[in-house]
Amino acid sequence: MTDFVPAAAVADVPEEGTLAVEVDGVEIALVNSGGEIFAIHDECSHAQIPLSEGEVEDCEIECWLHGSMFDLRTGKPTGLPATEPVPVYPCKVEGDTVLVDVHHPLNTDTES
Ligand code: FES
Repeated sequence: MTDFVPAAAVADVPEEGTLAVEVDGVEIALVNSGGEIFAIHDECSHAQIPLSEGEVEDCEIECWLHGSMFDLRTGKPTGLPATEPVPVYPCKVEGDTVLVDVHHPLNTDTES
């Protein structure tokens, strides 16, 4: 079972950029990389910094504070200093709308 809810308009998520939204009380960074949209919890696992303020490249997002990188598909850190994953959520596009399910993280070893 899924709980997809509308999160944003597709046009509002810039290419190789982010849009911070709140879905069912969860802060999310919607990220467009290579034309695909991902949903990742909007907080670095190293400290409480919004990942939506980071740089996006090749399906990864970089935290601006200390440079940790996270894979947008798995939430796993690909660059130190972060060592813990960040929750990533099912995300799909229907028409002009991005839908996200914040209740069923894709990486089940993390909490939403
Ligand atoms: S707060 Fe994100 S890398 Fe340190």
